[in-house]
Amino acid sequence: MRRIAILGATGSIGRSTLDLVEAAPERFEVTALTAASNVDQLAADARRTNARLAVIADDNRLDALRTALAGTDIEAAAGEQALAEAAVSGDLVVAAIVGTAGLAPVMAAVRAGRTIGLANKEALVSAGALMLDEARRSGATMLPIDSEHNAIFQCLAGQDSEQVSRLILTASGGPFRTFSLDQMARVSPAEAVAHPNWSMGAKISVDSATMMNKGLELIEAHHLFGLPETRIDILVHPQSVIHSLVEYADGSLLAQLGSPDMRVPIGHVLAWPKRMKTGARRLDLLEVARLDFEAPDPVRFPALRLARAALRDGEAAPLTLNAANEVAVEAFLAGAIHFSDIARLVEDALIRMSQPLPRTIPDVLALDAEVRERTRLRLPELAA
Ligand SMILES: NC(=O)c1ccc[n+]([C@@H]2O[C@H](COP(=O)([O-])OP(=O)(O)OC[C@H]3O[C@@H](n4cnc5c(N)ncnc54)[C@H](OP(=O)(O)O)[C@@H]3O)[C@@H](O)[C@H]2O)c1
Repeated sequence: MRRIAILGATGSIGRSTLDLVEAAPERFEVTALTAASNVDQLAADARRTNARLAVIADDNRLDALRTALAGTDIEAAAGEQALAEAAVSGDLVVAAIVGTAGLAPVMAAVRAGRTIGLANKEALVSAGALMLDEARRSGATMLPIDSEHNAIFQCLAGQDSEQVSRLILTASGGPFRTFSLDQMARVSPAEAVAHPNWSMGAKISVDSATMMNKGLELIEAHHLFGLPETRIDILVHPQSVIHSLVEYADGSLLAQLGSPDMRVPIGHVLAWPKRMKTGARRLDLLEVARLDFEAPDPVRFPALRLARAALRDGEAAPLTLNAANEVAVEAFLAGAIHFSDIARLVEDALIRMSQPLPRTIPDVLALDAEVRERTRLRLPELAA
C-alpha cells in the first residue's frame, strides 16, 4: 500500500492521478487531496477515495467544504499551513498545483524527506537551487511527472550522468507551430488553449502555445539532471510520440515513446520502481508511420531564447521569468493583453529586475510577489 497525497487534485494532472489511484485500490491509499477553490469537486473526490484530509487553499471556502463533507470522517482544512500538512501526509506527494502557489507545500514535502512526483515545474524553476539543497539534506526523492523529464528519467535508468553527452527535450510546437508572426499577434485565448496533442490546464496550454513551457522545462531539466544549458537541446516533434531523448558518450541515442497521455508518466511515478497498468492507448507504430522533426524558430518563439538567457544568468532570473510569465498568461487569458505581449512582458521583467536568489522560501515568495506587482503595473500600457 502506497500512501498518496495529491496537491491540485481537481486539475488536469490531479484528475489523471485520481483515475489511476482509484483503478488500483489494492495499491494506493489517499491521505490528502487539495484544491484552490473547487469545493464541490474536492469534496466529491475526498468522499469517493475516503481521503483522511481535504484542503481548500481559499480560507473563505472552509465552511462550504465542511458542509460538503458533513457526515464523513474526512478532516476539512484551509490555508497555507493546511496545504503543507497535506503535502507531508503520505509517502508520495503528487505536486500538481499550477504556478508558484505550489512552492511552499512542495518545499514542506522536500524538507520532510518525502518522495515527490513533480508536475509543478514552476516551483522548481523559481527555487531550484534551494529545493535541491534541501532534498540532498533530507533525502527526499524527486520523480518527474512532466512527460519529457519522465522520458529522460526512464532513458537514464540509473546510469551515471557523466556518461551523458546531451539531453534532447521534444516539443510539439503547440497550436501555432506553423503560424506567421502576424497571425500569432491576433490569436485568441480560446485558440491558444486548444492544444493539438495534449489536454491540459489553461496556463500550461498557453505556455505550450508560446513555447515558454519548453523554456520552463529546459530549466527544470537542468535542475533535475544536473546538465548545463549548453547540453540541453530542444527539438520540435509535432506528433508528440517521442517524449524526449538522452544521447550518451558513445553516440547511442535513447528515446522513450508512447501515446500522448499523461497517465503514462504519472503511472510510472506512482508505481516506481515497478510499473502499473494505465489504460493509455498502446502506440501503434504502423499507424504513426512517420516521425517529423524541426528546429524551434527563435524569432516566432522568443520565450525559448528568454528561458535560455535566464538559466545562463542564474540567481533570480528564472524566478523573474516565471513570475512575469504567470502574470502575463493570466492577463492574456483575461483578454487584457495580446498573445505576443506575453514574451514582451517577460523580457522587460528580465531586463529591469536582476537580483540574487534569496536563501529562504519566504524571501523567494516575497521576491516572486514583487516581480508580479511590477509586471502588473506594466499591463495598462499594453491593454488589448
Ligand atoms: N496538464 C498537463 O498535462 C501537464 C503536463 C505536465 C506538467 N504539468 C504541470 O502540472 C501543474 C498542474 O497543471 P494542470 O494542467 O493540472 O493545471 P490545472 O488543470 O489548472 O489544475 C491546477 C490545480 O491546482 C489548483 N490550484 C490552482 N491555483 C492554486 C493556488 N493558488 N493554491 C492552491 N491550489 C491551486 C487547482 O484548484 P482548483 O481546481 O480549485 O482551481 C487545481 O487543482 C502545472 O505546473 C503544469 O505545468 C501539467
